[in-house]
Amino acid sequence: MKLNILIVDDEKNIREGLGQSLEMDGYNILLGKNGREGLNLINNNEVDLVITDLRMPEMSGAELLKQVTASNPTLPVIILTGHGTIESAVTAMRDGAFDFLTKPVNLDRLSLLVKRALANRQLVLKHRELQDEIDKLSRRNKFSSIIGKSAPMRRVLDIVEQVAATKASVLITGESGVGKELVAHAIHNLSQRKNKKMVEVHCSALSESLLESELFGHEKGSFTGAIARKIGRFEASDGGTIFLDEIGEISPHVQIKLLRVLQEKKFERVGGETTLEVDIRILSATNRDLKEETEKGNFREDLFYRLNVVNIHVPPLRERKEDVELLAAAFLKEFSEENGKNITGIDQKARLALYNYSWPGNIRELRNCLESAVVMCKSSIITRDDLPATISSGSDEDSVKIPIGISMDEAERAIIKATLFHENGNKTRTAEILGIGRKTLHRKINEYGLN
Ligand SMILES: Nc1ncnc2c1ncn2[C@@H]1O[C@H](COP(=O)(O)OP(=O)(O)OP(=O)(O)O)[C@@H](O)[C@H]1O
Ligand SMILES: [Mg+2]
Repeated sequence: MKLNILIVDDEKNIREGLGQSLEMDGYNILLGKNGREGLNLINNNEVDLVITDLRMPEMSGAELLKQVTASNPTLPVIILTGHGTIESAVTAMRDGAFDFLTKPVNLDRLSLLVKRALANRQLVLKHRELQDEIDKLSRRNKFSSIIGKSAPMRRVLDIVEQVAATKASVLITGESGVGKELVAHAIHNLSQRKNKKMVEVHCSALSESLLESELFGHEKGSFTGAIARKIGRFEASDGGTIFLDEIGEISPHVQIKLLRVLQEKKFERVGGETTLEVDIRILSATNRDLKEETEKGNFREDLFYRLNVVNIHVPPLRERKEDVELLAAAFLKEFSEENGKNITGIDQKARLALYNYSWPGNIRELRNCLESAVVMCKSSIITRDDLPATISSGSDEDSVKIPIGISMDEAERAIIKATLFHENGNKTRTAEILGIGRKTLHRKINEYGLN
């Protein structure tokens, strides 16, 4: 499909001359002799780029530029200026022009500039599309802050929704940085307890005795330093939810006390005699393989089964790479707002690098990567040079990385996806490169949900 370029100039020779030159570059040309005609053409046609003179009768180029930036901000405008009118070009740049060219126009420079402006527009549009998708996802689902459209992530969200309404204990498993904490919050926020407290305890951050009194509370004088009675987290979250993060780290002694809470909903404060009863929903999370820990004797099997009534396993990012682009766009928006920058997209090479990287630190690492890229970025587009070295250097844009441990199907999916990406979505070229028919490619694209 040819892109449409509108050229507006009151001098017939100039607009037609530039038009012919760009026509040879393969564009479709629309011509207008003043701002008003230009605006009309923009309103009635799909225009991808505007090139306009500044001084014209009826409506000037400056006025046209203002109208375009107001109603059509992604449409790039290139300004043509005569000698000695550089100041007006500078004003136009401030008003949102993409760039300017001085007359007489050097046709090679024109050709390059047009190419650059159109490529830039593609990126901006792509980014907008992702932004819309994110907005749609967050409006549609109640997991507002959890971003993800991949099949594995949709399965996770389905279970979250199902289990939220119940009181079942849920063990959330998965590598570090996959979003276990977000999942715990989503369960609480979707439950009937959402207006009650959700208390979080980071079990590995505290020593055994501190954790015990943190969870169950203590009576005054129960140990050195216990100068007053302390209400524990279980008591504090009565009626609500308690989230025990890094549950794999708790000592055998605390495991026994916890088991009793799970079985009988009862416990005593440290050093206390009164038995307290609570109504609590228990969520826990770990990045260890707790089943294996029970086999090794490090974790009580009975406790494991009580915690793990429902298991939600959050898969690592490398197993749901379809989410990378969406997550990256969301983080890009977050950090460019936070840093007061106006970054509108991620270029092709950088996107490929993000896609190819294996993300051992999962979403936390991706998030940090985008924060640093936003800080490093000097233009309005993130390029591969803005990415941390480990991510950009590991990526070879002409290769597909396939980690050990994935199936043939997943490998095929990765190869097809990367080739499609490399060929800018051109299916004919992709089929050719892969040596398969277009029909087969289409079938596989549908099968793997690559649309
Ligand atoms: N699906 C997602 N959408 C948006 N942000 C996410 C998503 N998953 C994780 N994050 C973000 O990534 C970071 C890490 O997530 P989180 O703390 O939930 O991971 P975790 O699995 O609890 O890791 P750890 O085991 O190290 O505690 C957080 O900043 C979180 O907001
Ligand atoms: Mg966590």
